[in-house]
Amino acid sequence: MTARTSTTTPAGAAGPDGSAQPLAGLIVDRHVNAADRAVNLARDVLAGLTGNPRELPPKWFYDATGGMLFDEITRLPEYYPTRRERAILDSHAGAIAAACAADTLVELGSGTSEKTRLLLDALRADGGLRRFVAFDVDEATLTQAGRSLIATYPDLAVHAVVGDFERHLARLPGGGRRLIAFLGGTIGNMRPAQREAFLRALREQCGSTDALLLGTDLVKDPDRLVAAYDDGAGVTAAFNRNVLTVINRELGADFDIRGFAHVARWNAADSWIEMRLRAVRDQQVTIDSLALAIEFQRGEDLLTEISAKFTRDGITAELADAGWAVAQQWTDPEGDFAVTLATPSTAPSAAPV
Ligand code: AVJ
Repeated sequence: MTARTSTTTPAGAAGPDGSAQPLAGLIVDRHVNAADRAVNLARDVLAGLTGNPRELPPKWFYDATGGMLFDEITRLPEYYPTRRERAILDSHAGAIAAACAADTLVELGSGTSEKTRLLLDALRADGGLRRFVAFDVDEATLTQAGRSLIATYPDLAVHAVVGDFERHLARLPGGGRRLIAFLGGTIGNMRPAQREAFLRALREQCGSTDALLLGTDLVKDPDRLVAAYDDGAGVTAAFNRNVLTVINRELGADFDIRGFAHVARWNAADSWIEMRLRAVRDQQVTIDSLALAIEFQRGEDLLTEISAKFTRDGITAELADAGWAVAQQWTDPEGDFAVTLATPSTAPSAAPV
């Protein structure tokens, strides 16, 4: 697949090095456009629905509706991770800023960049902040968040990168001392091998003065974990089914979303929550863009998301395997969630076997 890049600089002039680097304003780099998105979705749906077991990558939840539903999830009483992570950043953003002394904050999968403000404020108070780079798959979310950040921080150079962080990490703008934040527990959407590849690739993009800030949900009572992914108001169920609506609209499919039940279960062996859509009756689904018809038997599952839960030692070990040394690690008082600050380790770890 070709990734086309277009850079727009609605405000600002070329920097001293000739790069488009406005003093204040929004730069947008696009590595994924609508055509790429359609091709990627088609490929993922074809592979995921014809494979066994059936599975879809969670990134396709997030159209405009999915983004709104996820926002709603973060405010649900059962969904503790967002509140816990915010509490950690509330208490420790100053220590994080002091430890990394970054002039650039890069946020991967930034979404609405809400928690980002805690970090931006702390880095600004610390003195050196110049630039914010937001990296996300959804351009609308990015530009909206970028504009609102520019309104609050008029001196900040805001750089929006529309891309997929499993494919476009090498396109992250470099230079300066960067703090790369990957928050929310989103790394939990990856399986262990994917996590290792991702953390290694990120390590390769980083210089000795860069740092990584990683948010991870922690293992806890399975009842609480399951409740966080199967809320009483049914918002997570709607979020889960929304992926079928996305496929209906973008690939001309005819999923009857009432034909699928939301299932959340704790997989203790793999230490992750699984979200599934379970066919409530036998049914056939046609996907026009793929010229494909698929049969679902009653009770058959489609895995739509894994959300891995970690231990503090496990996080440290995974980071070490990928070339990162933990500088500091914080949890909320209840021990529900962890935020880890890591720096590139000087001695590269052994190659994977
Ligand atoms: C955005 C991936 C961190 O795994 O908890 C929330 C997504 N899915 N409820 C998570 C999600 C169902 C969320 N992440």
